[in-house]
Amino acid sequence: MYFIAGTDTDSGKTLVASSLLHLASKQGTTLGVKPIASGCEQTPAGLRNSDALALMAESNLSLDYDSVNPFAFAPAIAPHIAAKQVGISLNADLVSAHLKTLPLDELDFALVEGAGGWRLPLNSALRVVGQLNEQAFLSTVVRVLQLPVILVVGVKLGCLNHALLTQEAIQADGVKIAGWVANCVDPEMEVTQDNLSALTELMDAPCLGVIPHLSECSSQTAAKYLDLDKLAPSKL
Ligand SMILES: Nc1ncnc2c1ncn2[C@@H]1O[C@H](COP(=O)(O)OP(=O)(O)OP(=O)(O)O)[C@@H](O)[C@H]1O
Ligand SMILES: [Mg+2]
Repeated sequence: MYFIAGTDTDSGKTLVASSLLHLASKQGTTLGVKPIASGCEQTPAGLRNSDALALMAESNLSLDYDSVNPFAFAPAIAPHIAAKQVGISLNADLVSAHLKTLPLDELDFALVEGAGGWRLPLNSALRVVGQLNEQAFLSTVVRVLQLPVILVVGVKLGCLNHALLTQEAIQADGVKIAGWVANCVDPEMEVTQDNLSALTELMDAPCLGVIPHLSECSSQTAAKYLDLDKLAPSKL
């Protein structure tokens, strides 16, 4: 099981996750989950999030929606604030416990899409006795479960700093980066090749591919630019 982290919100985590699932589903049993999602639509069946639905569409093990996205919130705001508005306090143990209920034995390939960037808060108790409260961050789940990370770099101005800081934080947490993807989210980006060269030099993991800016953005199209074989293996 891999964790899909991004340099930021809108960096392309869902696009990359669904593309990797698209590729892996040709070879075995797959599942993508989005444990925490804000920005959900109210439907007769309950709250539904487009990221979770996209991952479900490319997974060939079908689970009920609540197993894929157990923590769903309507407003498209920071999840811990959305949770607080409805009287819910998330924590790292709660999210880890859910991931442990997934049928990993049946899976050849599993992905967990994060939310936002690496240090996403889960609740409002961000500090305890003057230091960061580990239970208040999604990164703790990844560290405790020792999930290898696939880092999606949203290629735009500022991405070198974001990519390097995110890599440093992941590594400082003792978490392995199994691969990274350059995702060209900005159609107007200048000197893209020079930025890609700098990223390649900075990143301490195999590059799984470079996705150009796509006029027709789909997992099938993006998958053509990714190579699953470059991914370092995951034990879980
Ligand atoms: N290479 C690309 N070319 C064109 N559009 C893209 C590309 N990558 C992502 N996008 C678009 O940018 C938006 C953000 O992408 P995506 O939803 O995958 O990001 P995310 O990191 O999962 O965001 P979130 O933090 O909300 O989960 C989407 O509308 C997606 O279609
Ligand atoms: Mg997403």
